[in-house]
Order: sequence, then C-alpha cells, then structure tokens
Amino acid sequence: MGRIIAVANQKGGVGKTTTAINLAASLAIGERTVLLVDLDPQSNLTSGLGLTETASTRRTIYEALTTDEESDPTDFELATGVTGLHLIPADRHLTGAEVELVSLPNRESRLRPLLRQARSRYDYIFVDTPPSLGLLTLNALVAADAVLIPLNCEYFALEGLAELMATMGRVQAGLNPELEIEGVLLTMADTRTRLGQQVAMEVRQHFKEKVYATTIPRNVRLGEAPSHGLPAILYDVRSTGAEAYVALAREMLEDSMRMPDNIL
Ligand SMILES: Nc1ncnc2c1ncn2[C@@H]1O[C@H](COP(=O)(O)OP(=O)(O)O)[C@@H](O)[C@H]1O
Ligand SMILES: [Mg+2]
Repeated sequence: MGRIIAVANQKGGVGKTTTAINLAASLAIGERTVLLVDLDPQSNLTSGLGLTETASTRRTIYEALTTDEESDPTDFELATGVTGLHLIPADRHLTGAEVELVSLPNRESRLRPLLRQARSRYDYIFVDTPPSLGLLTLNALVAADAVLIPLNCEYFALEGLAELMATMGRVQAGLNPELEIEGVLLTMADTRTRLGQQVAMEVRQHFKEKVYATTIPRNVRLGEAPSHGLPAILYDVRSTGAEAYVALAREMLEDSMRMPDNIL
C-alpha cells in the first residue's frame, strides 16, 4: 500500500513544487513507483516535468475532482521522463475548481477515493498543493496519510505555520483522524549565515525529530531545471540541489524501514 503525502505550506515560494518533483524523481530512480499529483492551478509541477502540452490533450485533476462519477485514476496518469514516475497533471481549469467545489457534495473529500484507489499501484503518492488553505489544499489533507512541510530558512519561516497546524487539527478531528506530519524540510538553506543557522535551530526546537536531518541548500540548478522540463537529478546530477534531494529520499526510505508496518 503506497503512502499518500501532501506537500503543503500555505506560503508561496517555500519549495513545495521543487520538493515534490525532486523527491519523487529521486525515489523513482531508487526503483520505487511514485505518482505525483498536481493540485495547484499554477500547474508548476506539470510544466516542471515538461508535460504541459501533453496535459492539454488529456483529462486533468480538474475533471477528476469535479466529475460526479467515480473516476479511474489510470485515466489521468501520464508517464514522465523518469521510469516509475507518473503524473496526474493540472491545467488552468483548476483555477475555477476552488469555487466550483463549494457547491459540490463532499467538497472536502473528492480527491480521497481517487488516490486511495491509486495507492495499490504505487509506493508513494505526493500531492503538490497551492499556496493557500482553501478547498484544494483541504482535499489534499483529507486524502493524505501525512503532510510534508517545506520551510524556507528565512526569518518568518515559522510564522503562518500555526494556521496550517490548526487546519490539520480540524481535518484530524473530522474527515481524516489518521493524518500525521510526515516531516518538516528546511529548504533554500544557507547554513553559513547566522540567520540561517538560527532559523534552522528554532525550527528543530519546535518540531524536534519531525525535522529531516537533510536540508536542501540554495542552489541555482534547482531553479533552472523546471524550465528544461526536468527534475534536477536529470538536469545536473552532480548539483548540490540534486544531491540533497537524493539524500532526502534515502532518509525517507530509512525512516520507513524503521516503521513497524514496513511499507516497502
Ligand atoms: N533550494 C532551492 N534553491 C534555489 N532555488 C529554489 C530552491 N527551491 C526552490 N527554488 C526556486 O524558488 C522558487 C519557488 O519554489 P517552488 O518550489 O515553486 O515553491 P512553492 O511551490 O512552495 O511555491 C522557484 O522558482 C524554484 O525554482
Ligand atoms: Mg508550487
């Protein structure tokens, strides 16, 4: 049974999409089967994998969320340039979903059946979410086993997280009692500066062992790779960014081996 992980933080530009693409690609190269789900109307995940044009001729997550019939996830899954890595894409239609969902039945749990159905075919499913705590992100939290929270190492990193925690609390109290924190990931880290070190220390004090030992450094290659439609590991395997996400994948696999209900 694959693990469903929502990548969430309602702040934009903290590295959600970069983490989803590069962690998923690293796990796939490590011979895990991985499904990425683009739940952000900006569809940076879809474009970052070079699949915008392909997606334009196919059904997207928008149709999966708004249709009345029970959807078959395989109708939406696209192959990517990485063996074992698939994508359910998004396009601009998803912009309207936030409003359309309001009047649909089960508006917060429309993603869940689709992903619960897909999980038997994957080791991991990652859902990339938009920078808000609206209905799209709620659907991801209701569908997920756990939340991975990227935090960029800047002064206000922890600010705003209370809102995400409160939203998670509401989801746990209602539609998804099993929801956990998968881990907190320090991104765009500059551990050479005092500020960077101080922020990292504060985050570790707050979230303790939930913070990954691996931190993602600031690295221009991570910013360049999406414009080539590639994960960093295919764009420049020796870049510090690609290496950091491989290390994160390794850490995640080691953690999962320690879990009693070993999923591997
Ligand atoms: N570690 C990093 N080093 C340098 N640039 C990064 C890094 N992580 C992300 N970026 C860039 O920063 C921007 C925001 O990252 P993104 O993953 O899109 O954030 P989010 O999905 O949270 O909005 C993007 O242009 C991305 O390429
Ligand atoms: Mg994003």
